[in-house]
Amino acid sequence: MRLAVVAGARPNFMKVAPVLRALDAVGLGTRLVHTGQHYDERMSGRFFADLGIPAPDVNLGVGSGTHAQQTAAVMVGFEPWLTSSGCDAVMVVGDVNSTIACSLVAAKLHVPVAHLEAGLRSGDRSMPEEVNRILTDALSSWLLTPSRDAGDNLAAEGIGPERIFLVGNVMVDSLLANLDRALATDVLERLHAPGEYGLVTLHRPALVDHPERLGPVLAALARVARELPLLFPVHPRTRARIDALGLELPGIRLIEPEGYLAFLRLQAGARLVLTDSGGVQEETTVLGVPCLTLRDTTERPITITEGTNRLIGMDPAAIQPAAEAALADRTGARRPHLWDGHAAERVAAVMAGEPAPQPGRTLSLTAGGERR
Ligand code: UD1
Ligand code: UDP
Repeated sequence: MRLAVVAGARPNFMKVAPVLRALDAVGLGTRLVHTGQHYDERMSGRFFADLGIPAPDVNLGVGSGTHAQQTAAVMVGFEPWLTSSGCDAVMVVGDVNSTIACSLVAAKLHVPVAHLEAGLRSGDRSMPEEVNRILTDALSSWLLTPSRDAGDNLAAEGIGPERIFLVGNVMVDSLLANLDRALATDVLERLHAPGEYGLVTLHRPALVDHPERLGPVLAALARVARELPLLFPVHPRTRARIDALGLELPGIRLIEPEGYLAFLRLQAGARLVLTDSGGVQEETTVLGVPCLTLRDTTERPITITEGTNRLIGMDPAAIQPAAEAALADRTGARRPHLWDGHAAERVAAVMAGEPAPQPGRTLSLTAGGERR
């Protein structure tokens, strides 16, 4: 079997890196497709160097746009490439627009899809990622899940067990494989980081695209920064929004997005992380760093029940008390089941060993609309 592996945006690169290596180790051929959803050196190129990912076989160069424009551009670029690629299956990761776009193309071409990080659900369909997750899972033959709760979500949607494979968390594979290299970087010296600091990332449209929410949240972060200086590598979506607000934010260092190794070092050294990122919720759990998630829901509840994460919503008044409580928290590093550094090997074993189960085989509807 030859697999097309798709990556498009920052959080995809640390997922495909160990998987490409593991697929190669079991003798499966791969072609790496970069959709170009993220394209800045700081959001894309440097991750290839940091993570040792080979150059992509193709870059579709889709760039930014509305959801429809971006999703459509990926589809238009991917369809002819897949048709002529000789690939027998497509692997997509995560929940970005590139994920659903390539799944949909493959499904229509009758090329089976493997979804890595399947089954996560926030329960909030106003998140574009939630729509991407649900649709990608519906189209996929292999649903490769990071944790048991993800499999439970899929079962609750009527997806049969023959399509669900609990493999663990490949992002943790990357973290554990690279932690020593990350700790050896000089990012703390380069940034003249204070001895104790908090780390911030924010990029969800639900927060950053609403100035009436973002402004008060930044002001609340500035209050936290009176006690604990904050480093804030700013996602490009967020940069323009912060500039437009024109706020004075003493104590908050706004910096460019960092590379994978440098950002891992920053997380490992932080007293506290404040974020709305999906991946950062997981990485802080494994690093044992308290994490406050500025969202109302999470698709990664295991980082709360078995990790260091706490959901605090977007109420600015909640931020400082939560930060004080988190600083007193002594929960150590946690490793949920199968977040053990070997998830990619399990992915490769599934792909090498299993013929593609058919999507929809279990969930069949009678003419009357009842589930059989
Ligand atoms: C996307 C994903 C989100 C993921 C995030 C990770 C979707 C729907 N969203 O959100 O799930 O958490 O990536 O970072 O797929 N931009 C640049 N340079 C780049 C890329 C983007 O300047 O290299 C700017 C552009 O102004 C662009 C904006 O960032 O319009 C948003 O980029 P986009 O890929 O549409 O969504 P993200 O917010 O990055
Ligand atoms: N990350 C990074 N540099 C940064 C911010 C984040 O390398 O400046 C990494 C982070 O360690 C994690 C991934 O990017 O591995 C998370 O991506 P992001 O927050 O963009 O997306 P999400 O996980 O929310 O979809």
